[in-house]
Amino acid sequence: MGEQVAILGAGVMGETLLSGLLRAGWTAADVVITERRPERAAELAAKYGVQVMENDAAVAEADTVVLVVKPQDIAGLLEEIAGSIRPSALIVCIAAGITTQFVEDRLPPDVAVVRVMPNTPALVDEGMAAISPGKHCDGEHLARARALLEATGKVVQVAEHHQDAITAISGSGPAYIFYVVEAMIEAGVLLGLPRSTSTELVVQTVYGAAAMLKETGEHPTVLREQVSSPAGTTMAALRQLDDHKVRAAFLTAMEAARDRSRELSSGSA
Ligand SMILES: NC(=O)c1ccc[n+]([C@@H]2O[C@H](COP(=O)([O-])OP(=O)(O)OC[C@H]3O[C@@H](n4cnc5c(N)ncnc54)[C@H](OP(=O)(O)O)[C@@H]3O)[C@@H](O)[C@H]2O)c1
Repeated sequence: MGEQVAILGAGVMGETLLSGLLRAGWTAADVVITERRPERAAELAAKYGVQVMENDAAVAEADTVVLVVKPQDIAGLLEEIAGSIRPSALIVCIAAGITTQFVEDRLPPDVAVVRVMPNTPALVDEGMAAISPGKHCDGEHLARARALLEATGKVVQVAEHHQDAITAISGSGPAYIFYVVEAMIEAGVLLGLPRSTSTELVVQTVYGAAAMLKETGEHPTVLREQVSSPAGTTMAALRQLDDHKVRAAFLTAMEAARDRSRELSSGSA
C-alpha cells in the first residue's frame, strides 16, 4: 500500500482533488474521504470506489491529511482531529485565508503543515496552486504536498506572506478572465455576430492565446506586437483600452483583491 491520503471535506474542491489523484495514478485504496453529508459521501464512494470514514478514524491512518472544508469550518474540524493525528503526518490546508500558524496552534507540537491556494481550473487538470511551508515542514513534506497538487495542475512554492497576492492573482484570476470573455462575447453580438458564433470565437481565441504564451515562452508584449501592425485594427482597439485605463483598472482591482484577502484572513471580515 502506498502513502495514505485522507481528504477531509469532499465538496467541490475535495472531489476535484480526489478525481485528479485517481487520474494521476493514486489508487482508490490509497485515498479515503470524509464528508459531513452522508448522501454526498455515498455518491462519491459509488463514483470513485474510495472508502468513506469518520474524521478521527481517517486521520489516524493517514500519512497526508488534506483539509478541504470552508474556512469557517476549519477550527471545528481541527478540534475533532487533533487527538488522532499521527505525529509524522503532513497536514495540507486548502482553506482560503487560514494561516499555517492557525492550524499549527490547534494541533500537537511539531506536526508539519503546508498551506495551499489552489484555483478552479484544477477541475480540468490546469490548476495553479501556490504552496507555503509552515514552521515544521522539511523538504520531504514539501515534495509530498507538491506531488499531491501536481495531480491537478502546476505548483509554485511561495513565502506565506505572499499568499494574499497569490489569492488576488491566480486564486481569483479565472474570474477576471471569464469577465473579459463575457465582455468580448457581448462585443461580438454588438458587431452583429450570432451569440453562439461570438462565444466560439472568443473561447478559442483566449485558449489559443494562453497556449501561445505557455508554449512559446515569449513575453506577452512581444506576442501583442506581432498582431499590432502600424495604423492597423489591433492598434485602434488597444488605443481605446489605454484611453479607458484598462491596464490601471487591473492593477487597482488586484490590489483590492489582495487587501480583501488580508481582511478576511485577519478575521475582520
Ligand atoms: N482558490 C479557489 O479558487 C478555491 C476554489 C475552491 C475552494 N477553495 C478552498 O477550498 C475549500 C473548500 O471549498 P469548496 O468549494 O470545496 O467547499 P464545499 O463545496 O462547501 O466543500 C466542503 C465540504 O466539506 C464538508 N464539511 C464541512 N465541515 C466538515 C467536517 N467537519 N467534516 C467533514 N466534512 C465537512 C461540507 O459539508 P456541508 O455542505 O455540510 O457544509 C462540504 O461538503 C475552501 O476552504 C476554499 O477556501 C479555493
